[in-house]
Amino acid sequence: METILVTGGTGYIGSHTVVALRESGFQPVIFDNLSNSSREVVARIRELAKDPEIPFIEADVRDQNALDAIFRQFPIKSVIHFAGYKAVGESSEIPLEYYKNNLGSTLVLLDTMKRHRCFKLVFSSSATVYGSPVALPISEDHPLSATNPYGRTKLYTEEILRDLAASDSNWKIALLRYFNPVGAHPSGRIGESPNGRPNNLFPSITQCIVGKMPELLIFGKDYPTPDGTGVRDYLHVCDLAAGHVSAIQRINQLDGAVPINLGTGSGYSVLDIVKSFEKIVGRPIPCTFQDRRHGDVAECYADPSLAYSILGWKAQRTLEEMCSDGWNWQKQNPAGFE
Ligand code: NAD
Ligand code: UFG
Repeated sequence: METILVTGGTGYIGSHTVVALRESGFQPVIFDNLSNSSREVVARIRELAKDPEIPFIEADVRDQNALDAIFRQFPIKSVIHFAGYKAVGESSEIPLEYYKNNLGSTLVLLDTMKRHRCFKLVFSSSATVYGSPVALPISEDHPLSATNPYGRTKLYTEEILRDLAASDSNWKIALLRYFNPVGAHPSGRIGESPNGRPNNLFPSITQCIVGKMPELLIFGKDYPTPDGTGVRDYLHVCDLAAGHVSAIQRINQLDGAVPINLGTGSGYSVLDIVKSFEKIVGRPIPCTFQDRRHGDVAECYADPSLAYSILGWKAQRTLEEMCSDGWNWQKQNPAGFE
């Protein structure tokens, strides 16, 4: 069994990916400081993957000694690097924390990998590196820009990884640019557990349905889209997890640092998502229109064809599955992992 180090492996996307890796015959090693997750996730991952032995190390990726110890203890062949902060709004309030964590952790990780002669990396990038789209669907050669410190950490990390790959042909790096990951594992045992009031659409809707939030605020009704609300490329988190497994399986075929979009290629509006949830729960969701949210774009969806040609990966799950699995998770875990 090939051993894969998964930083941020108890987080939302990391936890689903660890389960998918184990199911595909890999030996994941989870490394997470639990700054945005919970120890309970480890138990749930082990249960879903039917492997009570999946190793978990509670430590910070910036802790050089802790990382070194892991590379000495396990025969790590590749790394998937999820660890980092991800809240767009918060990144403008505490930018230094974002640069320190997102850039700092990556630098320590890369240095450690290099010293242990591990050169295969899958990095969590984001469609946020495309800034405000100038052409749709967005392909990997779309111009890059960032509108907030979080986005800049992704952009700078991509640049660092490109420099590194250009300096040494041993490096094989997949820069996976996710569009909008949503939903949860169909078992309802793992899912997204935002702290406090959620910022993103899916957890906001599911919290409205359970009555934790009185209504859904829809940010903007006058976008140049078919129904006036924002359009995004929502992607089931289990499809995203499968994309990471494909990236690990095909990583030797990459030439340097290669950006790859992970999205479905289809755009859905806020109202499409609301209607899909209403169909599943069988009752209306109270909504109020608000002004546009600062920094939001009208439409954003991927051209996912490169992921298919390089990784043989395509999103499989429908919008209905994204909504029903997201709802199933919320229903079974009203307080998240607490
Ligand atoms: P998440 O917050 O659920 O998971 C990140 C995990 O990393 C958490 O478990 C946290 O405890 C851990 N972590 C943070 N800093 C750490 C450090 N220094 N050392 C060790 N562990 C640390 O986030 P997620 O939604 O699973 O996102 C995973 C990655 O994907 C992030 O890099 C994020 O920026 C990126 N991404 C997410 C989205 C999205 O919408 N969820 C979209 C695009 C890209
Ligand atoms: N929206 C609402 N009400 C809400 C929350 C969101 O109307 O309560 C709308 C937004 O205005 C947008 C759409 O729902 O039109 C999606 O918003 P999300 O916050 O769920 O997702 P974003 O596309 O804004 O952001 C996501 C990630 C970011 C990433 C960005 C670009 O959360 O990390 O995609 O890839 F930077």
